[in-house]
Amino acid sequence: MTSPQNKLKEITQIAERRGFFFPTAEIYGGKAGFYTYGHLGKAIKNKFEALWRKHFLEENCYEIEGNTILPEDVFKASGHLKSFTDPLTECKACHFRFRADQLIEDSLKIKAEGLSIEDLNKIIKENKLKCPKCGSQNLTEVKWFNMMFPLTLGAVGSKEIAYLSPETAQNPYLAFEREFEATRKKLPLGIAMIGKAYRNEISPRQLFFRLREFTQAELQVFFDPDDINKHEKWNLIKSYKLRLMPVSERKSKKVKELSCEDANKKLKLPKMYLYYMQKMHTFFLEVLQIPREKFYFYELSEEERAFYNKFHWDVYLELETLGGFKEVTGLHYRTDHDLGGHAKQSKKSLEVFWNDKKFIPHVIEVSFGVDRNVFAFLEIFYEKEKERTLFKFPAKLSPVEISIFPLVSKDKLPEKAQEVYKKINARYVAFYDDSGSIGRRYRRADEIGCPFAITIDYETLKDNTVTLRDRDSMKQIRVKIPELDNKFKAMEHSL
Ligand code: GLY
Repeated sequence: MTSPQNKLKEITQIAERRGFFFPTAEIYGGKAGFYTYGHLGKAIKNKFEALWRKHFLEENCYEIEGNTILPEDVFKASGHLKSFTDPLTECKACHFRFRADQLIEDSLKIKAEGLSIEDLNKIIKENKLKCPKCGSQNLTEVKWFNMMFPLTLGAVGSKEIAYLSPETAQNPYLAFEREFEATRKKLPLGIAMIGKAYRNEISPRQLFFRLREFTQAELQVFFDPDDINKHEKWNLIKSYKLRLMPVSERKSKKVKELSCEDANKKLKLPKMYLYYMQKMHTFFLEVLQIPREKFYFYELSEEERAFYNKFHWDVYLELETLGGFKEVTGLHYRTDHDLGGHAKQSKKSLEVFWNDKKFIPHVIEVSFGVDRNVFAFLEIFYEKEKERTLFKFPAKLSPVEISIFPLVSKDKLPEKAQEVYKKINARYVAFYDDSGSIGRRYRRADEIGCPFAITIDYETLKDNTVTLRDRDSMKQIRVKIPELDNKFKAMEHSL
């Protein structure tokens, strides 16, 4: 069996060699926290975003596109200027700067996120923790470091401060008043944005897990707080079983399987919140086909929650190359924290009139880190067999859906194969490959997770049939060209 370290190495090598992802500005040595998607990685990312839109943008949910540079007032109002911080310490010997909580987690294998500066300093001193780079015990006192990238707008000397936004979420809050009007003043109203966000991570690491520039797909659902324990589709979802790791089960490490109805009664989670938990659950398990045992919702304690959240559960996926279950997505009940903050800072009323009363809507936020998810698919669907390595992606996530090979490059087979390729490529993502032996071409297609391969051979010229090969079983069947569409639909990883 491949060790997790080797598995990570293998995936990274394939990613770089085949064009899934690689470090940005590699020719200059790269920069920690920045990655480029190659053509295959970008294709998966595009597919993921399309599936996300289709699944989450239900009735009265809309997508907008705001900005990644936003004025300082926005972050005064949101609280990021004051509270979006990580604990920083510096080695006095080698001047390496790193996160104090990560030092503690790595050295003592305990959770340290959310601890106060006093506690972090105390643990570091009591355990005589050392600089991870040079081993010196001479570390500075821990202090808070704001993770936003500041900018000045305009010419040199300008005092107009702005920031690269650390989340897409602020855009829907800024757009709320306009969008509420434009969409006929109905709640709940969902405003989504898929876009870039930026965080000046002190020590970027774990590939796509701590990036300085990354993509988020976030949906902000605005609703009447008096309706939080209601959802019009509640009866349809109340029996749906959720996999949950509440704070109370952390020691036992037992995942609880509770229906939405039981989670509402036993964990006091409101129905509106549970509706989105179920929505995220079905997205991972049914749309992305993540194995059930590799998924659960993890509840964050009060100290661990982001400063704006009242309820906060993250989706954890099991990623053995990163050491176990890791957060890929969050579900946040942000109350009226943001709209309330913006109303105060801008001195504009952001109240709505709905249900015969005036109030500031509350927000539930579905927040996906897209890059983390893309990395998770590579790790979860990667397999190594005796003679090949492959990604067993579901067809709807595969960067290439159908490979088309002429058996040999002569006797009119390439012409026929091109004809088939053109037809198929009009409906699916197809790839034409005529270089090397057929065996090598199958391996290359497997290695990028292509679920189907079609070979055009001498039989094709006689009876208009092709060989259709299934990536996972490697089984081959003969199919008439006009029947290919139906076959793709009927197969296990249907398109
Ligand atoms: N918008 C929530 C987050 O960035 O985590």
